[in-house]
This record gives sequence, C-alpha cells and structure tokens, in this order.
Amino acid sequence: MANTLTGLKLDISAAEDFLAPTKIDSLAPAVAKVATDMAAGRGPGSEYLGWLDLPVRITEENYAALEASANRVRGDTEIYVVVGIGGSYLGARAILDALGSGPDRFAERSRETGAGNEPCEQNGFASCHKRFPEIVFAGTSLCSTALQEVLERVRDREFRLCVISKSGTTLEPAVAFRLFRSLLRERYGSQEAALRITAITDAKKGALRTMADQEGYETFVIPDDVGGRFSVLTPVGLLPLAVAGIDIQSLVAGAAEMREICQRDDLRTNPAHLYAATRYSLYTEGYFTEVLSSFRSGLHTFQEWWKQLFGESEGKGGEGIFPASTVFTTDLHSLGQYIQDGRRQLMETFLGVKEGVFALKVPAENGADRQNYDGLDYLVGRSLDDINWKAYEGTRNAHTAGGVPCLSFEVDRINPHTLGGLIYLFEKAVAVSGRLLGVNPFDQPGVEAYKKELFSLLGKP
Ligand code: PA5
Repeated sequence: MANTLTGLKLDISAAEDFLAPTKIDSLAPAVAKVATDMAAGRGPGSEYLGWLDLPVRITEENYAALEASANRVRGDTEIYVVVGIGGSYLGARAILDALGSGPDRFAERSRETGAGNEPCEQNGFASCHKRFPEIVFAGTSLCSTALQEVLERVRDREFRLCVISKSGTTLEPAVAFRLFRSLLRERYGSQEAALRITAITDAKKGALRTMADQEGYETFVIPDDVGGRFSVLTPVGLLPLAVAGIDIQSLVAGAAEMREICQRDDLRTNPAHLYAATRYSLYTEGYFTEVLSSFRSGLHTFQEWWKQLFGESEGKGGEGIFPASTVFTTDLHSLGQYIQDGRRQLMETFLGVKEGVFALKVPAENGADRQNYDGLDYLVGRSLDDINWKAYEGTRNAHTAGGVPCLSFEVDRINPHTLGGLIYLFEKAVAVSGRLLGVNPFDQPGVEAYKKELFSLLGKP
C-alpha cells in the first residue's frame, strides 16, 4: 500500500499469512469506533488528545518565537545542553540522530540566507553549517559517568541550557539541571546565567514553572492536552531541532500530511489503522513481542523513541506488546539468531529506507597486483545502499520463513518531512492500538512505582 508521503509504503503481506484470512478486516468496525471516539474527544485519556491536531495547530507566531530563540542561541553558543528524560528528549534526539550530519539536516531557509554555511569539504557536501551549535543531552539517567562527560564537554565552551520537564519535578533532569545551572552561574554570573536558560514546561504548575517565573528564564509551554511521549511537535522537540538548524516546518508539514492520510475511513488505505489492526491481530494469536528493525544506524534513537511510545502507552493492566528493536545488519550477528530461530512469539516490523546520505560504492581493487582475494569483484560498482536493501529483503524473507510475521514500512529516504510523517503515523497507531487493547494509551501509572521506592530509599521528605 503506497501513500503520497515520499513513497511511504506499508506492506503487511508477510504477516497476513500467519492470520486467518478475515482476521484483520474483521477489526475494521472496532478501529473505526476507536478513531471516531478519539476525533470526538471521547474514551480513556481523552484529556490528552491534543497531539491529534498539533501539526495543524502550530501558528506562524509559534514558529517565529521558536526561530527567535534559536537565533539567539546560535549567536553566542557552541553547545546547547538539552536536559530532559523520556518524552522530554527522545523525539528531538531521534530526529537529530536520524538526520546525522547530512545536508537534509539543515533548513532550507538557512541555506538561502547563508547562515552557518562555511565550506566543509571533508563531510562530502558543500556546507557543514559550523555555526549551528552542537546539541547534547543530559539528565537522561542518574549515571554519574554520563553526566560527567557532558560537564567536561562544556567546560571550555560557550553553552546554554534548555531544560524540559512537563511535570517539572522529575528527579533525573532536576539533578542535572542543578549541576549545569551551578556551572552556568560560576561561568557567567547569576544574571547572565538566567538569560542563558530556556525552560519548557507546564503553563502554570510544577517546580520548574515556579523557578522559571522567579528567575526570569525564557519559557515555552507544553500544552496541557499533550503528554510527554506525544510532545515532539511542541517546543519540546521543535526548539532543540530549530537550534540545530533542522527544517521544523518541513517536519510539521510531513506530520500534517500524514494526519490527513490517517483520517481515511478505509482500513486498508490508512497506514496507522492497518498497522494497529495487524499487530493487535497478531497479539491475540500469541505474538507478544514486536521487534522494530532498521538497516540504518542513524535510526537507532528513532527506534528508542518508538519503544518508549509503544511501551509506555500499551504496557499496563497486564496487557501490551513488548517493544524491542534491532539495527541490522549489525544485530544480525547477535539477536538475529534468536529472531530467526528462537521461541516463536515475535512479530517484526521493518523500517526500510532506500537511499542513504552518501553514495558509497564498492570500488575496484587498486594497486599493482590486482587480485580478487576477498572475492568481492562481483560487487564492484554497486552502491552500499543497494547491497543494504538486498540485505533487508533477504532478512525479511528469512525471518518470515523462520516463523516470524513481518510488516514493512518503506520510505525512499529519511528527511524532516518523512520523519514528521512517521512520527504522526506511530502516534496515531499506538493510540488506536492501546484502545483496542482496552488500556488508556495516554497515562503511565507504572512509572510511579520505581519513583516511590527510590524516594523512600533516599529519604525524600
Ligand atoms: O511520556 C511521558 O509522559 C514520560 O516519558 C515523560 O516524558 C517523562 O517521564 C519525563 O517527564 P517530565 O517531562 O514530567 O519530566
């Protein structure tokens, strides 16, 4: 099934063979009901449905405010430290890592105005945009080594902080923020430090909101009706991405296009609904784990974002498909064995990307004595992308034959537009899927359990 979004296709044929012929289509009425309820603001968690319309809710003023903040950062900052955990950082990081250092990473507007366009031939394209600050993430764990590494990185460099927390009370980012805030104050003095901090948080509640108002930080609001893991298309994702020079309008346009596609009534032409119905059908047949597999190393964090989205949304009340991920071909030499041959309770969803950023080809052997010792002459002139695509097709065939129902999303290339589309598609799919499972996809009561134990051990007053 093809959609207009840069050739995005969802193919479920290698999964349907594992199901009774009418199984998926028989879910059409249930999926339609869930979708109608969500569109009408009904059902469990309906106070958190704001993400549904985010792509068409963002105004020119919103973009202008984000760009103004991003421009200030670019003027005097080498490193932009983004402090947040879970849904407060994974989306931005996923997009940054997916786009890597390729030209798609940088906004068209910047190219036109020449902002940051210094030549950078070693990267293999015309400009490397050195003036966009490096984005680093902190507060994503309580690991002292990880935090110390980021502290070291900013030691002799101009930096600013962007602290993101919807509740404003999460321990990991709060601790990291305190450390970086102290460093900023030592370096720049209290007044200048306050000008170098942006807080993205609730409009009214929470410790971070209180501190930001008292200290006079620049702030952006996370809308009340958007939960953390659904917040990529709010300032939570958009501000760090704008600072990094990513075309956030193209990202949002991709999501808006996908929003339209995901409103289709026909189950077979609505990729979010078809994906949700297929994985739910497989779940009811005993396929309890879903592996999201890609063949692009840069998609690793996107797959982490997907795991968080699906794990936190579905895993409750004793229900839910366990989300796992692999990056091939690397993991074909590790988890590949289990997927091919281990306990048969896995389904696999592939994220196939046809073109990479760099057109690498297998070269002919050079040098005086040109022997075909490595036996690779049959590949001379073939692009790595082509070989990688064959690895994808071969792996999917092998896993299907090994008893793993396989679904495939395919796109021509990864850019802000396709990423925006994929983000919206997965958000819509998990919302539908969670409701099919009978859970509230928008809360995360289980996350509180570890916090309670931790705070009791730490003697929190
Ligand atoms: O998706 C979610 O709601 C969570 O993953 C949160 O984003 C995460 O726990 C961080 O919460 P907060 O933004 O309140 O610090």
